[in-house]
Amino acid sequence: MNDRAIGPVLVNGIALAASDASVSVFDIGFQRGYGCFEAMRSYGGSTFRLDAHLRRLAHSADNLRIPLPEHEELLEWCQRVERGGDGLLRIYVTGGLDSHHLGVDNVIVVFLEPLPAIPEVVRLDVIEAPWHSDGRTSELSGAKTLSYGPNLAATISARTRGFDDAALVGMGDIVLEGPTFSLAWVTGGDVYTPSLDSHILASITRQATLEVANALGIAVHTGRFDRSDLTGADEVFVMSTVKEVTPVAAIGSATFAPGPVTERLASGFADLVRAETG
Ligand SMILES: Cc1ncc(COP(=O)(O)O)c(C=O)c1O
Repeated sequence: MNDRAIGPVLVNGIALAASDASVSVFDIGFQRGYGCFEAMRSYGGSTFRLDAHLRRLAHSADNLRIPLPEHEELLEWCQRVERGGDGLLRIYVTGGLDSHHLGVDNVIVVFLEPLPAIPEVVRLDVIEAPWHSDGRTSELSGAKTLSYGPNLAATISARTRGFDDAALVGMGDIVLEGPTFSLAWVTGGDVYTPSLDSHILASITRQATLEVANALGIAVHTGRFDRSDLTGADEVFVMSTVKEVTPVAAIGSATFAPGPVTERLASGFADLVRAETG
């Protein structure tokens, strides 16, 4: 249990040993997946784009109508935990004990998790995602909620078929994202990535990578693209807080070698992280 967190687990700002941190079985976060979360990355004690993550958390909580503590307080909790060094800084917000009174007796948990092993390349299985809003606007558009069951089921299903993870496609075979990462590919030297209009998560790594592409003079195209655009690409890569920029070696039966554009973006992203986190 204790190896799940580096240092204490803050529950509503109170530092507890990992084994003492808990959530009520009556919390709608546990019972219904009603809540939201963020996964950030601390590099040697400094979190990459902490403010952007907290803004996204505020947006998620707002969509769910869960009141949050002041930004400064959340920031202070994160700063206390990031000092643990390299790791994933996780923040979870539950809905609380009563859906009529959201945020009452709820918990906000902040802790630093050891980094998982990050593979050098990933192999993806294409999986249809009928649960994805796929461009249709809903109450929860853009929210990073605790209801990640379908995403995790897609990852597990891909693993049972010998892949590392899934590439999700929506209606009409439109490419969306991975269960916990964004997708992009390179064709003829340009970068292509699904636009946020399809209500994929507004990934902070994707945003930073597009900034890097821009700085390097690499053209970026966002839009609605179909599966054949992805599988017919020269290079494919994933982007996330955990995986940073990682090359994709396979999408179903299509295979890819790590390519020069992905390499430039990955090293540009690493430089950007170093510049911003010191
Ligand atoms: C569905 C989904 N897409 C993309 C991402 C990548 O987002 P970020 O770069 O902010 O980690 C995540 C991260 O958890 C995600 O859950």
